[in-house]
Amino acid sequence: MSESGVGAAASARQRQLVERALGEWRGDVAGRVVVVTGGARGIGRSLCEGLLRAGAKVVAADLTWHEAEDFRKHLESEDNGLAVDMDITDDTALDAARDAVLERFGTVDVLVNNAALVSETLFAPTGHRNTLDTTDRDWEVMFGVNVFGTLKAIRRFIEPMRAQHRGSIVNVVSSGVLPVSSGGGYHGLRPWTVEMPYQATKAAVMALTFYLAEEVRSDGIAVNAIMPGHTRASWFDATARAFNEMGIAYFMRPAIPEHLLPISLFLAAQDSAGASGRLYYVPDWNYDHGYGDYATWQDHELPADMEEIYSRLEAATPVYERAGVAHLPFDAQGALYTAGMANLGAQKSWASTGVAQ
Ligand SMILES: NC(=O)c1ccc[n+]([C@@H]2O[C@H](COP(=O)([O-])OP(=O)(O)OC[C@H]3O[C@@H](n4cnc5c(N)ncnc54)[C@H](O)[C@@H]3O)[C@@H](O)[C@H]2O)c1
Repeated sequence: MSESGVGAAASARQRQLVERALGEWRGDVAGRVVVVTGGARGIGRSLCEGLLRAGAKVVAADLTWHEAEDFRKHLESEDNGLAVDMDITDDTALDAARDAVLERFGTVDVLVNNAALVSETLFAPTGHRNTLDTTDRDWEVMFGVNVFGTLKAIRRFIEPMRAQHRGSIVNVVSSGVLPVSSGGGYHGLRPWTVEMPYQATKAAVMALTFYLAEEVRSDGIAVNAIMPGHTRASWFDATARAFNEMGIAYFMRPAIPEHLLPISLFLAAQDSAGASGRLYYVPDWNYDHGYGDYATWQDHELPADMEEIYSRLEAATPVYERAGVAHLPFDAQGALYTAGMANLGAQKSWASTGVAQ
C-alpha cells in the first residue's frame, strides 16, 4: 500500500473505533452534564466534541477562547452545549461558571480536569528545561494551574454530585509520574524526557486522585486519572516545527486526541460503585478493550512539513515490535528513536540535549 494509502486506512480505522465507542457508551452518557476544563482546544476540545456526539450536555470551560471562537459559536448553537470563560486559578470566575452551569443544566454529573500548562506551553515552544534551570516562579505558576486550579474546580463542581449521590471526576495526568520496577527498587519511567516542574504537578494530581476517591466513595462519586501518551494537542505543531528548525524530530508520530474518547466515555459513566481510585494509561486501556494499540491512533493527517519529519524518522528507525504491549516500554522507544535520529545523521535528539536551555 502507498504511504497515502496507509494513512487513509489508518484514519478510516480511527473513525470506525470512534463510532464504536459512541455506540458502546451513548446509552450511559446521553443526558449527563459533563464539565471539561481546558475545553476550548487540544485534548479538551476533542473530548467535548465526542461527548456532544454521545448525547451528553457539555460545558467547555477555558481561560481563553482565542482562535477557538468558531468552536465557541458551534457549542452555543447546540441545545446541549455551553462555553464558559473560566480561569481555574480564579475563585470568582469558578463560582460564576459553576452558577452558569447550574442555571443552564441544573446539575453536574461529570468533571474532567483537563486544563493544564504543559512543559511546551510554559516554556514555549520547545519546553523541556532542566530542573536547575527553572525558577521558583515557574513552579508556582505551574502548581497554581495544574494542582491548585484542579483542586479549586473540584471543590465547586463536586457539590452537585454530592447532592445527587452520584458523579465522576476524571483527572488528566501524565505517564511521566510513574515509578516502575524491573525486579528491584523503583525508578522513574522516563526522566530522560526532562519535564519539571510539569511532572511534579501531575504526580500531585495522581496522589490527589487516589486519596479523594477513597474520601468521596460514600458520596457515590468515582475519581480516576488518565495518562494520555504523546498526543497532538494545540501546542504540538509549533513545538515540532521549532525542534525541526534545529534538525531534531520531536519524538515519534503523535496520536490523535480522539484516542482518549473511549476511556473518557467509560469513565463518564462511572460512579463509586463502578471503577474508582484508578490510574489508567490510555494506550493500554484501548488495547485491553479492543480499541487498538498506540500505532492504531497515530496521526496520519499531519500538515505536509510535519508529515515529512515523521515519515523520514520512521523510515530511519529500526522496527521492533512485541506481542502483548500496546506501546513499547519507554526505554525501548527512547532507544529506537535515538537510533532513528542517529541513522538520519543527527548529532542530538530532543531529550537531554540542552536545546531548551
Ligand atoms: N498532549 C499530550 O501529549 C499530553 C500528554 C500527557 C498529558 N497531557 C495532559 O492533557 C491535558 C490537556 O493538554 P493538551 O496537551 O491538550 O494541551 P493544550 O494546551 O492544547 O490544552 C490545554 C487547555 O487548558 C487551558 N488552560 C490552561 N490554563 C488554564 C487555566 N488557568 N484555566 C482554564 N483553562 C486553562 C488552555 O487554554 C488549553 O485550552 C493536560 O492536563 C495535559 O497535562 C497531554
